[in-house]
Amino acid sequence: MVVISLGGSIVYGDMIDFNYISAFRKFLEEKSKNTKIFLVVGGGKSARDYISIASKLGMDEFSQDRIGIMASRINASLFIGNYSYPKVAESVEEAVIASKNYPVVLMGGTEPGHTTDAVSLLIAERVGEKRVINMTSVGGVYDKDPRKYKDAEIIRRMSYRDAQEMFLNRDMNAGLNLPFDLISIKIAERSKIEICIIGKSIEELKKAMLDGECQGTVIGITND
Ligand code: UTP
Repeated sequence: MVVISLGGSIVYGDMIDFNYISAFRKFLEEKSKNTKIFLVVGGGKSARDYISIASKLGMDEFSQDRIGIMASRINASLFIGNYSYPKVAESVEEAVIASKNYPVVLMGGTEPGHTTDAVSLLIAERVGEKRVINMTSVGGVYDKDPRKYKDAEIIRRMSYRDAQEMFLNRDMNAGLNLPFDLISIKIAERSKIEICIIGKSIEELKKAMLDGECQGTVIGITND
């Protein structure tokens, strides 16, 4: 079994990435022959665009989150296939029930107040899976923003506490593009779930699944 959180900006960066989605669907079709897969897809640019308009219209944060959830579900629906539960599951419970009959279950968001990363951790928690693979466009956690600073260095391993401190001072407003949210780390910590953050490459994903090799950053229990 594997739980994957696929960053929305990978699927929908400037526009919908047809080639990537198509390649990912092939991967799902192949892998679903011998592995149960929960795939949670984020909202990406489409969520941010809708949320920004909703915000300008003066809508409250809850309603903006609802719109983000809808955007993530549209993205997730592009991964539905013969290999999967034929609709985007709307709750963790629905996903668990669906997984009894289908090898692949797709999800976007569920409730306001968190991101799709948190949804992937709640699924892992519910099904007793001890690791979530988080695919992001940045490919890991860096000491500073790698898109702005050339000398940014990747952090290979972090404790839950390190991760919490890193994100604690950041805002949690709708649509903010953070590598991870605090709620996700809290859920990971309480159930001792390891988060493996990697890039968008399907090859990297296969390696993470096959031999547990995490090419980006691992957030989990550390010895220090
Ligand atoms: P994402 O999970 O895509 O958030 O959900 P993100 O981290 O900002 O974006 P990426 O995927 O890394 O690019 C988009 C927005 O939808 C709402 C939140 O407003 C979130 O910022 N959302 C999503 C929820 O309120 N609940 C959910 O369960 C999921």
